[in-house]
Amino acid sequence: MTLLENAAAKQSIRSRPVGNTPTIKNLGSTTDKVLNFPLNAWYVAAWDYEITRNPIARTIAGRPLAIYRTEDGKAVALADACWHRLAPLSMGKPVGRDGIQCPYHGIVYNSAGRCISMPAQETINPSATVPSFPIVERYRYAWVWIGDATLADPAKIPDMHQLDDPEWVGDGLTIGVNCNYQLVLDNLMDLTHEEFVHSSSIGQDELSESDFVVTHDDTTVTVTRWMLNIDAPPFWRKNMRDKFPDFEGKVDRWQIITFEAPSTICIDVGVAKAGTGAPEGDRSQGVNGFVMNTISPQNDRSCHYFWAFMRNYRLESQLITTQLRDGVSKVFKEDEDMLEAQQAAIDANPDYEFYSLNIDGGGMWVRRLIERMLEAEGRPASAQPEHAHRAPKAAR
Ligand code: FES
Ligand SMILES: [Fe+2]
Repeated sequence: MTLLENAAAKQSIRSRPVGNTPTIKNLGSTTDKVLNFPLNAWYVAAWDYEITRNPIARTIAGRPLAIYRTEDGKAVALADACWHRLAPLSMGKPVGRDGIQCPYHGIVYNSAGRCISMPAQETINPSATVPSFPIVERYRYAWVWIGDATLADPAKIPDMHQLDDPEWVGDGLTIGVNCNYQLVLDNLMDLTHEEFVHSSSIGQDELSESDFVVTHDDTTVTVTRWMLNIDAPPFWRKNMRDKFPDFEGKVDRWQIITFEAPSTICIDVGVAKAGTGAPEGDRSQGVNGFVMNTISPQNDRSCHYFWAFMRNYRLESQLITTQLRDGVSKVFKEDEDMLEAQQAAIDANPDYEFYSLNIDGGGMWVRRLIERMLEAEGRPASAQPEHAHRAPKAAR
């Protein structure tokens, strides 16, 4: 069966009964609502342009950091608490080629976190250091490693190459979301929510009516969904007309969601004129974007959600870049509102459990891979307060 026939066959399966797929049978019906975060992982701490010679404060994976750049342009991440009396170094100022001075009593640290000057002392106490964390700039982001530094291999940075590949162009922003990072991952792994949360832009009935395929390996999960011969929702109709000004008619639409553990999700999205071969790989009659998402836990109830929308057509148009960034930003504000409301409801109802539907197949594998990472670190999987007791299920 060709991919097109396969997709068409799936498209013909309308409104499958929930809980009726092998994926869910394998995964079980309940799970931890909110997850702890692995420490042995690269997390984005900042966009490259945010890091200057003057330090900024940012908390990543529970660790407050002072992040700055040396005169040579190298990014530095130090613990944001001075050795002496724990004043935040992010309030300090640059000194010399790579140093930073504590704002309180003037101790100066170099980029390795070692004290190189103590204004009120003649000799420097050799124990006067602050932790320095591995930090690597790649794909327009600065990635930091909070866990065991001996494991911090830059080869493990997730693939987000569209962000600085000359064949792609686009822009993005950061959203501070007051929810556990896992809820954002759930949101991105199941895009049927577009039909309800984003009904005025990218939502359409076919999202929840079409079937999808979930695959995974030890570090990635992929969810593939094709919707054939459908009307393009407003966002995609506009994008098609940016490339094909006279466009009318039906489209084939795709969403190929790829998760890379623990918290990066890149989504290959697009539409093409119906029946022109997009499912077989010919996307020349369509428009293609990549929604680049990477979520850095701040603590167990908030996260930094870094996103960008990249496209591979009309590369010359700054207007389209700005329109797409602003359009997606409005769409993601709808997610932010939903996610924060969901987290508030989770915390207000500690006795209630999550139940999983077939639409959660991708998200369940994401949770499973993260739980394996936490298990390897000897850390608990759940970020739910332990005092929550279980109510009888009949109470729901
Ligand atoms: S708290 Fe930093 S020098 Fe005193
Ligand atoms: Fe959304």
